Amino acid sequence: MSARNLVERAEATAVRAYAPYSNYNVGAVVRTTDGREFEGVNVENAAYPLGVCAEKSALVSAVAAGYRPGDIDAIGITASPCGGCRQWLHEFRVGEVAYRGSDGEVHVATPSELLPDTWDF
Ligand code: THU
Repeated sequence: MSARNLVERAEATAVRAYAPYSNYNVGAVVRTTDGREFEGVNVENAAYPLGVCAEKSALVSAVAAGYRPGDIDAIGITASPCGGCRQWLHEFRVGEVAYRGSDGEVHVATPSELLPDTWDF
């Protein structure tokens, strides 16, 4: 399955978002190099800063199953990833990032294209 198809999977996943404050449902699907998929949605909280983005929740799910940086082949997202999520995509060295842009088109990029000249620890 191409990274582009993961955007459609993410759009189906987004219906399970918990976003009662923004009403902005986001979905993400991560595909590992060995072909497994992990879904994520944004999960908000009445204490607004405690909310979690869909990309992070998908990556957390993959990490809990044992996957590590370099093990993530691609991610599909229903929206352009925020700055913090771009740093997460960089950390996990995600191969391809596909997302639905505000222009309605699917865009495909690498983490370094999305976050150039990144800081590393
Ligand atoms: N959101 C994501 O899940 N991912 C992003 O990359 C951008 C923003 C969520 C966070 C919040 O629940 C809602 O979208 C509005 O900002």
